[in-house]
Parts: sequence; C-alpha cells; structure tokens
Amino acid sequence: MKTKTGIPVIRSGQALQSLRDSGYSLAAALGEPVDNSLEAAANNIDLWLLEEEGANAKKRVHQIVIADDGRGMDPETLQHYLQLGFSTRYMSKKTIGKYGVGAKLAALNFGRRIEVWSRTRDNEGWLYVRFDLDEALAQEENGEEIFIEEPNQSTGPPELAEFFPRGSGTVVVWSKVDRLEEGRRAADANKLRVEVEKELSRIFRYFLSGGIRIAVNGTDLLPHDPLLLMEGTWADKVIEESLDGGKSEGKGKAKTTRPDHHYPGTVLGDETIEVGDAQARLRVTLYPKEVTRKRGLGGDKFAKALRVPENWGAISFIRLDREINYTNVPRLFPGGVEWQDRFVGIEVSFTPDHDEFFGVRNVKRGVEPHEEFRAEMSKRLKKLLQAARTQLEERWGAVQREDHDKDGEHAPVVEAAAEANRTLPKPRVKGPAPDEEKRILDDLATDVGRTNDAEKQVYLDRIKDQPFVVESVDFPGTNFIDLQHLNDKVIIRLNTRHRFYRELWEPVNEIAQRSAGAISPEQAVQAAKRTIEALTLLLIAYGKAESMHEDPQERYGELRSYWGQFLDSLMGKVKNIK
Ligand SMILES: Nc1ncnc2c1ncn2[C@@H]1O[C@H](COP(=O)(O)OP(=O)(O)OP(=O)(O)O)[C@@H](O)[C@H]1O
Ligand SMILES: [Mg+2]
Repeated sequence: MKTKTGIPVIRSGQALQSLRDSGYSLAAALGEPVDNSLEAAANNIDLWLLEEEGANAKKRVHQIVIADDGRGMDPETLQHYLQLGFSTRYMSKKTIGKYGVGAKLAALNFGRRIEVWSRTRDNEGWLYVRFDLDEALAQEENGEEIFIEEPNQSTGPPELAEFFPRGSGTVVVWSKVDRLEEGRRAADANKLRVEVEKELSRIFRYFLSGGIRIAVNGTDLLPHDPLLLMEGTWADKVIEESLDGGKSEGKGKAKTTRPDHHYPGTVLGDETIEVGDAQARLRVTLYPKEVTRKRGLGGDKFAKALRVPENWGAISFIRLDREINYTNVPRLFPGGVEWQDRFVGIEVSFTPDHDEFFGVRNVKRGVEPHEEFRAEMSKRLKKLLQAARTQLEERWGAVQREDHDKDGEHAPVVEAAAEANRTLPKPRVKGPAPDEEKRILDDLATDVGRTNDAEKQVYLDRIKDQPFVVESVDFPGTNFIDLQHLNDKVIIRLNTRHRFYRELWEPVNEIAQRSAGAISPEQAVQAAKRTIEALTLLLIAYGKAESMHEDPQERYGELRSYWGQFLDSLMGKVKNIK
C-alpha cells in the first residue's frame, strides 16, 4: 500500500513513552537539570524530593523540584526547553550539555509530566510551559498533532511558592512521578534521598568545592572526592568526627558545616596519557593512614561512612569537571582488582573534544574507552597499583608490629581444637630445654606485640595450657607458615605478608564477621570462588613441594596419613564456632 501524503517522522507521544527507559538512576537523571542550572550560571541549586503517603501508608516520592538562581530562559528558549533535540549549545565542545535531550529524557524517565517556570530578570513575572505525556498520548490517539504551547504567565501553585528564587532563575518540576514506588527503584524515600545526596556530592564535587551550592531537601552537599585530595570534603568531616570521638562540637554539627582539618591522600601518579591526538589526565592516590588504619577494616562502619567499599575497583571519569562515570571497571585493572585496592583513588579526566574516544553517550553516563587507551591505561595502572599495594602492606605491617592487633584472631577455633585434642593421640616431640622454651615463648609474645613485661605475662598465661597456638604475624620471605614444637604445644605462625593470607584469609575473615545483609551476592560468590581456587592451589603447591624430594612417599607418607586423620577428626568435632 502506498501512502499518499507525508507523515511525521516521529510519533512523538509514543516515541517519548518508549524513550522513558533510558536507564537513568535517579541521581544520574537529576544530574541533567543540575548540569543545565550550572550552565545557566546558577550559584544556588536546590533539589526537593517531595513525598506523599503511598499505598500501605509508606512514603513515596511523587514530585521533584529543581530550582536555580541562574540566568533563566527567554520565552523562546523556554518553549524549546521541552522540544527533544533542541539545544542552545548543540554539539558544543565547551559545555557539559550538547545533545538537546538531557532535560526531557531525564524527567520522563521518572515522571509523566514536566513543568518549567523561568524568568530572566528579577522583577518580571514567571513564564510557564509544560508537557504531559498522558495528554500527548491521548491527542495522538485522536489523530491530533502534538504541539508545545507558547509560554504563559503563571505564578505557580502556592505549595511550590517557597521553592522559587527571588531573582532570575528556573524552576523545573517533574510530576506524576510513577517510577519511584517502594520496592522497585528504592527501598524507601529516605534511602533514596541519601543515595541521591551521595551521588551528587561526588558527581559535582568540583563545582561544590569551587563554592557552588547544591542542596537536597534543604541540606547543603559537601563535595565527596574519591581521591581524597580535595579540601573541605565529606571524608574530611567523617575523619574529623571520628578522631574527635564525638566529644567536642564536631559531632552533631549541621551536615553543611565544613570540616576544619584536611586528611589528604598521597598522590602516587599524576600523568598525561596520549593516544593519537586524544589525551587524558590520570591521577592515582593512596588513602591517608587515618583511613587505611590497620589491615582488614575496609568494610567496617567507618569505612562505609567514608564510602570506601564502593571505591573498590572504581575509576572516576571526569568530563569538563563533571563526573560521568564511577563504577567498577575490572577490565582496566591489570591482573584483576585486589582487596586492598579500595584504598586507592583513581581519576581520569578529559574534555569533550575526546568524547568519541571515550564513548560518551547522550545520557552522559558510562564510558567505553577506546581499545588503545584501555591498553595504555592498564599499563600505567599496573605500575601505580603495584606501588599502592606495596605501600599499604608496609604501612599495615608497621601498624601491626606496633599494636599486635592480630593477637587472638584465631582464638575461638584454637580453643575448640584444644577441646577436641583431648581424645587425639599424644605428641611424641622431644621439646627444647626449659630456658630455650622460655626464650621461644618470649619471642612469640614479642611477635604478637606484647612488649612490656606485664602484657607479656598476661599473654603467656592465656596460652599456657593450650596445645596449639596460632597467630598471624608479619614476617619477611615467602614462608606461608612457621612451626615450633614445644613439649606440650605447637606454635603456628601464619605469615600476614603471604598472598594466601592477604587474598584468602583476610578477605574471607572480614566477610565472616559481617552480617549476612552486609554482603552482596556477587561478593559472596567471588569469595567462595577465590576460596576454592586458593584451597586447590594449596594442594597443588604442597604436591609440588613434595616432588622436590627424591622419595616423597618414604619421607612424607606418614605425615600425610596423620595429617589426613587429624584433619578429619578435628573437622568432625569443631564446627560453626561463634
Ligand atoms: N536551568 C536552565 N536555565 C537556563 N536554560 C536552561 C536550563 N535548563 C535548560 N535550559 C536550556 O534548555 C536547553 C535544553 O536543555 P537540555 O538539557 O535538554 O539540552 P542541553 O543541555 O542543551 O544538551 P544535553 O542533552 O547534552 O543536556 C538548553 O540548551 C538550555 O538552553
Ligand atoms: Mg542539558
């Protein structure tokens, strides 16, 4: 069949309905109008997530207001605000926005109606435009064409009056919000707001740090810098309060109060990466010792407050001072992401000239760096991450030697094993002479950090009747364990510098201490996989070590059969400790 007359290229209502699923998170969507406000030279940007009682009396966000005190729009621009594809900076290389779709797609991703008030002068009245998806669909259904009306004068509904700026500016309202029901995108309105605060404080950190005010429901955001280099940030505040112990006025200060102290990360690298005619800046930092503290704390409450766990394997991509991506990019980590990499800040910044090279998309989220760039970046990261990991090990080793925090780590299992040991065969060891034994125990106490005599005695009294002593200690070399046999006990030292400890023991131990809800299924699966790998490798390495002897069967046969037998009985008796 041949169409006789032309038809519109786009079936606007339906197309916009389909384009609702742009995959924005709420924070990323809000980033679009914030971008626009910044480009309109706003100094104050206020976001309001307005709640109403939803089904079963739970709160849900039904309307969102984004108000700025920027330049505002003249009538023509305001009318075009709602037009998909319209931009006053179309394909510009000097601005954050360039596609002419951000304001619309972001709004429709969450709501079914967009309303905008704007004025370019203090004493003018407000001009108003709106687009309603349901009205558009109905019109389309009736065969009518869909137009955006000319702006008209409107003061806005009284309940929104308090959000309007005094001078020039723009107020954008997303209403008929139907994509933020409980349980779908967000557990509850409160969590949703916290998540938005968290994301925006990082995405717009350069602007916040420069003095632009962005607030969510009346709370001014502090910048959050995952490199921990910027001053006056969220992290500075969290650290300051924790060092303060909540004693002084620090605690309970309004969220907006800037912290007085700065705890900067160490810059490990600040390099320019050039591939062809595209270039980017790569910066890598190691978190300060107030944050790294001692081994194994990367997931505790303090670390969470500092947003350390989400920094694990994450790279922050910055385009024109605005973050467009901060997610786990394991492919860029040479040899995979390691446990301690969460204490390493990584940032890549570039300008819109190189958008194509970084795979920037119209939603200005996510990056897909060019193959050659990825290779170059991996190469640089390899070196820098290695440096970071080494420094961290040294730092943690020193802290450990200082305060022997690993003392007692294995106590519950060791005590249970002592109990089980009562019915096992007795050892045949001819142990050292008494003064030699005393020296060995003394060294052990020192190794676990008991330096003064009183502390030493407490420790030695505790292990006195134990048939097994297991301690994690820091010792040089690649020995995995060190064994010493006394008349009545075996001392086993586990090397905390050994990869088996760092990559298996420590992370699994950390997970074991968490509550079940505090671990993602991915992390659990990853930990289980690494455990199986490590245990298999333990066997392989053992077999390989035996093979270094000419007659392994003769030499190790008895060892193997005892080992297997004791492991079996102990595992039968010791279970689910703590
Ligand atoms: N808060 C605002 N103040 C003044 N003008 C604005 C504001 N928000 C939007 N505009 C105008 O509306 C136009 C359309 O905004 P929109 O976000 O859809 O596109 P863009 O910012 O040009 O490009 P992108 O799709 O990359 O964001 C902008 O080009 C700008 O001229
Ligand atoms: Mg925009």
